Amino acid sequence: MNDMMELMAVTTRGLENVSADEMGRIAGLNLSQVAYRRVHAAFSGEPADLLDLRTVDDIFLHLAAWEDLIPQRAGLAQLTELAGTLAFTEALGAVARVRPLGAEPVFSVTANFVGKRKYNADEIKEAVAAGVGDRTSWRYAAENESDLNLRVFIEHDRADVGLRLAAASLGRRAYRQANLPGSLKPPVAAAMLRMAGVLPGDSLLDPFCGAGTILIEAALAGADARGGDNDPLALTAARENAARAGVSLTLEEWDSRHLPLEGRSVARVVTNLPWGRQVEVDEGTAALYRQACAEIDRVLTSNGEIVILTDQPDLLAFPRHPVVTRTEISLFGQTPVISQFSVR
Ligand SMILES: C[S@@+](CC[C@H](N)C(=O)[O-])C[C@H]1O[C@@H](n2cnc3c(N)ncnc32)[C@H](O)[C@@H]1O
Repeated sequence: MNDMMELMAVTTRGLENVSADEMGRIAGLNLSQVAYRRVHAAFSGEPADLLDLRTVDDIFLHLAAWEDLIPQRAGLAQLTELAGTLAFTEALGAVARVRPLGAEPVFSVTANFVGKRKYNADEIKEAVAAGVGDRTSWRYAAENESDLNLRVFIEHDRADVGLRLAAASLGRRAYRQANLPGSLKPPVAAAMLRMAGVLPGDSLLDPFCGAGTILIEAALAGADARGGDNDPLALTAARENAARAGVSLTLEEWDSRHLPLEGRSVARVVTNLPWGRQVEVDEGTAALYRQACAEIDRVLTSNGEIVILTDQPDLLAFPRHPVVTRTEISLFGQTPVISQFSVR
């Protein structure tokens, strides 16, 4: 049994409960709080197990919670002072269990805030870096040059501060190098697959696969993943990404309004339909959605599940599958909705 550690996961707004559910299944992890874009937990397990999390953007060893932050400019000196009190020993011990650390680490700071204040995220980073620099011999650098990342998450007058466990953000997948406009954040794809209850061996269809994010996350979870797109460039990107991920996908160039698939042949459909400002759709969105929904309904088994992300959820309708949940998330500065349809 390891010492108890406090964790802070950062996730997509709207998917906090999905991430909490995923985290809650890790041995030795006890959830303590689900908050805006964060999940807090106590953990006594093996830190390496946390690196397999798919739905979170990142996981941090929680270092401190700072209360009564001042929103005026004087708050910057307050942040420097508080950063000078941070204790890193236990968190560094956990980091060292998953990756080697040099004797003189280089650190970066990532900051975000909710609530009005008279300073910006860059100033928060500099203020915190000054305090950490006073206390340690670490050198401060940009995130892509650092081996330790401090995350400062300010919500109104409170900040939660964490030290990233992994070397790079968990949400950034090494396989995702070919991107397209509208390519999905991999943790959101993983969350949609969890919402659809995709299990190893399930047949999974993404009829609008783009760069293949949903299909690759599904294949990595053991599903039999099949998809297509009407853009050959998207299919090239999906093939390249799948090769880098080391998974095999069944990919086809197709028009999703006429899928070359047998009726009732797939158990799960998880997809991200093209929407207005994100991806050019060269015909009426309503007509495309209507025809695509009819095709999805035709190819889905009678007890199948459908999970779809779009900013036009009202255009989705499946005669055999009523909507079960609608979850608004924050993505690309927009607020699309994940709709879940199920026979249950
Ligand atoms: C929002 S993107 C999907 C992004 C994908 N989830 C990813 O992570 O890259 C929507 C995709 O639908 C494709 N598309 C648009 N109309 C289509 C149609 N009628 N048939 C098949 N694909 C279509 C576009 O080429 C685009 O790649």
